[in-house]
Amino acid sequence: MDEQKFYLDTIERMMPGKREQLVEAFYEFLELEHLYGSAAETVRTQLNIYDNEFSMKFQRNPIHGIDSRIKSPQSIMEKLQRKGYPLTARSARQHLMDIAGVRVVCNYVNDIYALAELLSMRGDFKTVKVKDYIKDPKPSGYRSLHMIVMVPVYLSTSRREVPVEIQIRTIAMDFWASLEHQLKYKATGDVPDSLKQELQELAATISETDLRMQGIYDQINTL
Ligand code: GTP
Ligand code: MG
Repeated sequence: MDEQKFYLDTIERMMPGKREQLVEAFYEFLELEHLYGSAAETVRTQLNIYDNEFSMKFQRNPIHGIDSRIKSPQSIMEKLQRKGYPLTARSARQHLMDIAGVRVVCNYVNDIYALAELLSMRGDFKTVKVKDYIKDPKPSGYRSLHMIVMVPVYLSTSRREVPVEIQIRTIAMDFWASLEHQLKYKATGDVPDSLKQELQELAATISETDLRMQGIYDQINTL
């Protein structure tokens, strides 16, 4: 409560007369966080159900790990500004499909497509967009399967449909993406073309390794 009072006083000092408006915006963002957080949680739960089912029936786990995050109000504002949309919670709900993000790291490439299909088949999850950066890697070399899924969230008095961006990739793809992301942030200027080229080659090597691991898995499975 003290913290809240501090923010309200600060708002009053910085923008006198705007207090009502800003408090309203603040609560709208809290609601957004709750709504999108709940949608991400629903997706995580469903993924864990599939993983446990596979473990029970086939003694193996397709999922190595799951991570989720809600975009911070600051990144939401930055993205809205960058794209030229109004800076409100309503505008964020309308225009941003990646406020809730779930990253699923799988053991094998085939697990990625199996999970994507299972998620799409679930009656009340509506897949509205799929980008297959495994079949068509990004120029950087980035590989992953991206889906936007509309997920129902049951609140006390209403049912809401909330978009969740699900990124599904192998451990190997995740390893590359994490390090490449860190390197891009570490670099103060542009990354030289020669290093970009090398990263792209490494991504291709990793992709070949993934396919060979899948091959070994398939052969052992048919023994
Ligand atoms: P945004 O406006 O950035 O969300 O682009 P978009 O809507 O076209 O989404 P896109 O399919 O490009 O995926 C964006 C997300 O994928 C990013 O937030 C990253 O998590 C991941 N991603 C995309 N490209 C790369 C890349 O080259 N390297 C790494 N490490 N991650 C990437
Ligand atoms: Mg995005």
